[in-house]
Amino acid sequence: MRIDIITAVPELLSGPFDHSIINRARKTGIVDIRIHNLRDYSTDKHNSVDDYPFSGGGGMVMTIEPIDRALTAIRREADFDEIIYTSPDGEPFSQKLANRLSCLDNIIILCGHYKGIDQRVRDHLITREVSIGDYVLTGGELAAAVMVDAIVRLLPGAMSDEESALTDSFQDDLLAPPLYTRPADYKGWKVPDILLSGNDKEIDEWKHEQSVERTRRLRPDLLAD
Ligand code: 6GU
Repeated sequence: MRIDIITAVPELLSGPFDHSIINRARKTGIVDIRIHNLRDYSTDKHNSVDDYPFSGGGGMVMTIEPIDRALTAIRREADFDEIIYTSPDGEPFSQKLANRLSCLDNIIILCGHYKGIDQRVRDHLITREVSIGDYVLTGGELAAAVMVDAIVRLLPGAMSDEESALTDSFQDDLLAPPLYTRPADYKGWKVPDILLSGNDKEIDEWKHEQSVERTRRLRPDLLAD
């Protein structure tokens, strides 16, 4: 999979993809993540990527021209299945959407700025708007990092069996069961006996019961339908 990210603040994305599972997926060629500096596509001498709104009022608005030029340059290299704009107005990001996006070959993520963007970008240049939650971030970069992380770990080969995505919370609309490791007794805080019993069938049943109980208690909305 190839993921291109367009941002006016590339520095914000220099860390998140350089470690652990995502870094390994990049190195082994499972994913090709490319960060593009929107300012490189600006045409004026100040490399500006925003301007005053025609409607007046405070705040700057991201201009369409550098974005169109960046998209045109990237699309010359590959056909893109989705061009996603990050925005608090977008459809909510979810495990389901991560699963669907992980099946695509090429996506572009355009990082928004919280004050906004020329509406013509949203009307003509993108295929989807996505939000990571009901709160406002200063820019879409952290949201893009969240989405890319959730997508890449689902790619075949990105994770080992032990790290498997199949047992995730949310993958089956249930929260994960609690985990324990050694020591079996720490300051009198004991690991449940069942986990030390060696009875795999009973342990599996216990894990499922724990998942259902935790989901009912902490996220009853997940069980609603
Ligand atoms: Cl995708 N962008 C911004 N700026 N704020 C957000 C968001 C995205 N998702 C939640 N809040």
